[in-house]
Amino acid sequence: MPVTNKQKYVLALDLGTTGNRAILFDKNGELVGQSYGELMQYYPHPGWLEHDPLEIWHDTRSCMEQVLRSTGVSPQEIAATGLTVQRETCLLWDKTTGEPLHKAIVWQDRRTAQKCRELSEKGYAEKIQETTGLVLDAYFSASKLAWLLDWVKQNKPEVNLDHVLAGTIDTWILWNLTGRRVHATDQSNASRTMLMNLGTHDWDPELLDLFTIPRHFMPEIRPSLGDFGTIDEEILGTEIPIRAIFGDQQAALYAHGCNQKGMLKCTYGTGCFLISQSGQELTRSRNQLLSTVAWSEANGGKPTTNYALEGAMFTTGACIQWLRDGLKLIKSAPETEILAREVENTDGVYFVPALSGLGAPHWDMSARGAFVGITGGVQREHMVRAVLESIAFQVKEVVDAMNKDSETPISLLKVDGGASQNNFLMEFQADVLGIPVERPAILDATAQGAAFGAGLAVGFWDDYEELVGKRKRDRSFIPSKNQKQAQEDFLMWQKAVSRAKNWVE
Ligand code: G3P
Repeated sequence: MPVTNKQKYVLALDLGTTGNRAILFDKNGELVGQSYGELMQYYPHPGWLEHDPLEIWHDTRSCMEQVLRSTGVSPQEIAATGLTVQRETCLLWDKTTGEPLHKAIVWQDRRTAQKCRELSEKGYAEKIQETTGLVLDAYFSASKLAWLLDWVKQNKPEVNLDHVLAGTIDTWILWNLTGRRVHATDQSNASRTMLMNLGTHDWDPELLDLFTIPRHFMPEIRPSLGDFGTIDEEILGTEIPIRAIFGDQQAALYAHGCNQKGMLKCTYGTGCFLISQSGQELTRSRNQLLSTVAWSEANGGKPTTNYALEGAMFTTGACIQWLRDGLKLIKSAPETEILAREVENTDGVYFVPALSGLGAPHWDMSARGAFVGITGGVQREHMVRAVLESIAFQVKEVVDAMNKDSETPISLLKVDGGASQNNFLMEFQADVLGIPVERPAILDATAQGAAFGAGLAVGFWDDYEELVGKRKRDRSFIPSKNQKQAQEDFLMWQKAVSRAKNWVE
């Protein structure tokens, strides 16, 4: 379907860990309207986290309807849709009823840590890393899908397994958006399941066997920029082509224009994800980073795949949310900046943001969060500042790992995501890294990436470089005279991290 003159917008659906969003972008790549709904987090046991898949689907629908209503844009004016999602979170559902068989298990959930340890003891870690580029960890979908299947067998023996479908959130939403016609995923999301073979870009039979996942559960893997069918007419009153799917971190990489080897970005979302483009050749890390798919393109039947190196840190926005909703130390996220500036330092307090264990470069599923160094004079402001500083310290560890993996040290950090709005955090980040940090005007790079991919795939835009070149910069943060102190504090923080490791069995 060629794009018509009437079609002036591209719709991005950005389904993240803490909330779902629909955003409209115009021909200039500018945001024209958005609708957002926060997502309920279910914590049934310590270390477990679930989402309600039906809530995600209903919120997706209502965000789409709401953004159209608030902007006065009609569905016929939309040239294409792009979908980007929180990665690794997965579920099983019955294709005959459309009902999920259990809540979705979220990427931060640690319930399968023991299973992963057992596999590691049996010597599977190397094979898994070789095949999938990933570290054997409960973060990824494979052990979660195995847990879900066991649960269904034990608790719902009446379920006919021939009717069961599996998927990450993109697959679940795509299946619903297309009127239950398309059961597919893209390579960037598939590469996070720990079941995709990076060499064949298909499900690996040995890994499916190892995790006891029947092949017929699994969606078809398609290129990220390609044909995923259309939004069913029933939903918005007209069919809209779905032409891009990305994992959210890969979408942000795409939006930042990082298409050349070594170009990288860091997204401060629920977690923090530093990703560096490695081009069309797979790069392996020697420093506990992940090799993963950046994106792939259909290219009229000659698909190409771009790879990336990634440092995944699990707790960023999540620890600010915990300060607000758990500890009730703050009323809103922006308040952290005001409080952090009210004190000169943390008064010797260090925070280890291991609320869901530690990701790169430690990969310690049994680490837990900790405040260390508290004395009687410590106040709320010091604790809040310690939490913000810990986010920057984590990023410093991953930047150091990336530098060890590459010949050219990182000289500029491009950032985005909600927590990058925090000026204190960005100033401190530049200090602790000793390099400039650059923030764009539109922080929703994930949604922008999905929109750019879909719009380019249908010919709404023609030139990727031109499109990403139009993105405006908001501010650069240059290392200040405080950098020496920040870098010294980093060494103390690493000591605190060593205390929080191997905490639970
Ligand atoms: O790997 C998890 C990641 O995709 C979650 O992203 O933006 O929800 O923190 P976000």
